[in-house]
Amino acid sequence: ENIDLVYLDKMEHIKKNEFDKTLLDNQKYLKNIMENSIQYQDSLGWLDISEWAGETAISNIMEKAERVRRNADVFVLVGVGGSNQAARAVIKALQNDNGPEILYAGNNISAHYVRQLLKKLKDKSVYINVIAKNFETLEPGIGFRVLREYLEGRYGEEANKRITLTGTRGSRLDEIARDNGYDFLTFPDNIGGRYSVLSDVGLFPMAVAGIDIKLLAQGAKDMQSYLHECDPKENIALRYATYRNLLLEKGYDIEMMAFFEPQLHYFSKWWIQLFAESEGKDNKGIYPVSVNYSEDLHSVGQYVQDGQKIIFETFIDVIEQNESLILTKDHVDDKFDYLNDKDFWDINKAAFEATIYAHSDSGIPCLKITLPSLNEYYFGKMFYMFEFACYVSGSILGVNPFDQPGVENYKGYMFNKLGRSDESK
Ligand code: PA5
Repeated sequence: ENIDLVYLDKMEHIKKNEFDKTLLDNQKYLKNIMENSIQYQDSLGWLDISEWAGETAISNIMEKAERVRRNADVFVLVGVGGSNQAARAVIKALQNDNGPEILYAGNNISAHYVRQLLKKLKDKSVYINVIAKNFETLEPGIGFRVLREYLEGRYGEEANKRITLTGTRGSRLDEIARDNGYDFLTFPDNIGGRYSVLSDVGLFPMAVAGIDIKLLAQGAKDMQSYLHECDPKENIALRYATYRNLLLEKGYDIEMMAFFEPQLHYFSKWWIQLFAESEGKDNKGIYPVSVNYSEDLHSVGQYVQDGQKIIFETFIDVIEQNESLILTKDHVDDKFDYLNDKDFWDINKAAFEATIYAHSDSGIPCLKITLPSLNEYYFGKMFYMFEFACYVSGSILGVNPFDQPGVENYKGYMFNKLGRSDESK
């Protein structure tokens, strides 16, 4: 079963013939990608899953992860942006009770946060993984220093057995690993952070958390075969990219990913990063945001329904029921008896359907992505689908989806304030 895409729009902002014509026109971008345009050669290591997540790579990761899994109570993932988002998305959604608790550091510079984190490590067996492509980013840099000191204080010389570093070969992190006897994993040179899920970067922390990374890689691989080989008219990534760019042309500047399973919260953060950082440049791009319904129906929902018509929604509809909780009748007349014997799953589905109906009825263009199940296999498919779609969409928009020049701007001012000298660059 595959992930599917449906367009719901009562006001027909995009007419069928307009869509068909644009889709046909956009096939040239797909062709360009498939014929392996040399333009982005040094950023396309993710396009063929077998390059960094083939069978040997997966077994190597699983073996290393097993050692940590066996010995750790707590595993701290130190990284920011593309270095931690994908692993966190899957771990937060799917980790069950066995295996180490996964904590996150190096993703902010809040003294309060770091102090709280250190408190959680007390009396636990702690392992860490620092992920940074070139090890120049401030957050993981100082996060690592604090944790390194903590581990050395607790474990002395044995601390080095508890540290795994993931960086590019030849980077400062690589040298640090060699000088100190830390385990080292590869951050592929030819993959940018936000596209790095199917490599040591995303897969090692997931494996430590007990996620079935083989299944995840299989999902991505199947999506890859499908997107590379299917009839372009059916190609879900091309269709998605075409819809969103047509909507942008019509003044829908904001894309809101909407879901009713809180399990998808961190996945939506990954998706936001992917599209915002890849497309928001040259004064262009759709602004991606996400909402956690039904909670956010009671806040942002007001704006979506009645505010400016600048938002289109991309709903994620999970098909397979993954949990059941029946509401039983009790002794209090709370006026909710119309829900007696109903399953939370079905109540949530009713809210989903009502929302999508109400929003599309009031003129909000809605896309619906049907996700057969919330498991590793379909996470793998979604990662690959959205990465591929982002490449196509960025090409349609006319931007380079693999750089992030804007991220650099504030850093100059910050380094100035912090007194960084030229030789420490
Ligand atoms: O996608 C990207 O390139 C960024 O989000 C990076 O992953 C992020 O800035 C972290 O960079 P680094 O791994 O160098 O610390």
